Amino acid sequence: MKTYKIAVIPGDGIGPEVTSAAVSVLKAAGELEGISFEFTECDAGGCAIDKYGIPLPEATLETCRASDAVLLGAVGGPRWDSVEPSKRPERALLGLRSGLGLYSNLRPALMFKELASASPVKNVETMDILIVRELTGGIYFGKHGRADSSEVLSDGSVKGVTAYDTEEYSTAEITRILKEGFRYAQGRSKKLTLVDKANVLESSRLWREIAAELAPSYPDVVLDYLYVDNCSMQLIHRPSTFDVIVTSNMFGDILSDEAGMITGSIGMLPSASLGAPGTPGMYEPVHGSAPDIAGTGKANPIATILSASMLLRWSLCETAASDRIEKAVRGTLADGFRTCDIASSDSDIVLDTEQMTSKILERL
Ligand code: IPM
Ligand code: MG
Repeated sequence: MKTYKIAVIPGDGIGPEVTSAAVSVLKAAGELEGISFEFTECDAGGCAIDKYGIPLPEATLETCRASDAVLLGAVGGPRWDSVEPSKRPERALLGLRSGLGLYSNLRPALMFKELASASPVKNVETMDILIVRELTGGIYFGKHGRADSSEVLSDGSVKGVTAYDTEEYSTAEITRILKEGFRYAQGRSKKLTLVDKANVLESSRLWREIAAELAPSYPDVVLDYLYVDNCSMQLIHRPSTFDVIVTSNMFGDILSDEAGMITGSIGMLPSASLGAPGTPGMYEPVHGSAPDIAGTGKANPIATILSASMLLRWSLCETAASDRIEKAVRGTLADGFRTCDIASSDSDIVLDTEQMTSKILERL
């Protein structure tokens, strides 16, 4: 029997609840398909700060590097809000992304027809967008700092302490993520939208130039461009017309939350962070640690369960097990079962985290 090594990072807040749900689904789907897993739990985020004083212990990074894939719950919470910036729980995520070289972040925003009524946008019948977000460059990883400036502004005030974060992208970084975007579009509806701010930013202009150079190599893909402000409007106006969106780290962060909300609940959205072939991918729900509902049984485990399904598909090439999980989730929703975040009608049967997980397990 084939055995895969999976590093599991439960993290903080609802992270442990949703990862344990996803691990049980992985085990069960694996058993049905004749594969098994060796799970190693590691600390990262706030819980690692409590234990070791740092958000990302080297041992966690090493375990991840030695695994076939990583499953992560969520990190962060108000308890660590006063921690100095370089040691905040979120640094664990950034450290995992850069430490594992995970430059490509796939965030599918898929609307399940059963949940259309939960969307805050009227009359959205279908929506199936794949956001390809660059994940290890741009303003997140550019030069950050502070300087004192004695420059005088037009109103006569002296600038004083000045903080800066730098958006910087190289040809190599842009090229590899754009190629990913083109390839995913080829496997889907063959539309690729590059989202940028090329009317203002030099880095965006370089993205456009490279996209135009690459386009002839993908003649079956229709490439178009949108400024990010316009894109945020078009996502609300015509969400069903998008296929693949490729964009920078910061714009991808913002637009994926917007697209996610249109699907009805951020509690449904999985993600994959991938690097060069052979590197372990990291899979996590798009929602955060939701400390306000941790331990109450209200967490929706579906985003993490779908992340486990992506893990099977993208890192392990175990398509049958992956399909099985997706089908079970659809079946559970079709039968009217909901967690409270996605309940919208009187006929919905509202379940807690464990009950929802059991319903999905039954349908595998
Ligand atoms: C995300 C999150 C992270 C990000 C934070 C927690 C650092 O918002 O994964 O979208 O900004 O990338
Ligand atoms: Mg975000």
